[in-house]
Amino acid sequence: RFEKAWLGFALLLIVGLIATITYGAVGPGVAMISDSGGTIDSSALGEHEQFSDPGVRQVGENEYDVYVVAQQFIFRPGTNEPITLPADSTVTFHVASADVIHGFSITGTNVNTMAIPGQVSKITVEFDDPQTYGLVCHEYCGAAHHEMAGTIEVV
Ligand code: CUA
Repeated sequence: RFEKAWLGFALLLIVGLIATITYGAVGPGVAMISDSGGTIDSSALGEHEQFSDPGVRQVGENEYDVYVVAQQFIFRPGTNEPITLPADSTVTFHVASADVIHGFSITGTNVNTMAIPGQVSKITVEFDDPQTYGLVCHEYCGAAHHEMAGTIEVV
């Protein structure tokens, strides 16, 4: 009966090791700083001060807040218009879902979080150089999940 406990412990170690390795690997030109969140009434997203008019807001000299609504099957903004940010900026994304669980992943980097109904996912990223990044939904969210994508332009 001790074997089971040891097996569990070994598995935990392995998972922890993988998590550590993954966390350390970040794509070129970006650095992930923090990942935390809050709660929101997603049925009333349109009444929320920030999410009724999502987009980029400058909050400091090189600091920006970006409010993004994920919904079947677009990012607002991101899909119909790119999210445009200046290089050498520190950007905190606030991501909310208007319907089901979506993913929020910046391609070529290790930046990813989820958009969960009722929650605001917060993730801070440093963008160093001008570059165009893809934004993809990496959580299955319905028939057109594979088409749910957008663009982040660092200029
Ligand atoms: Cu949204 Cu998959």
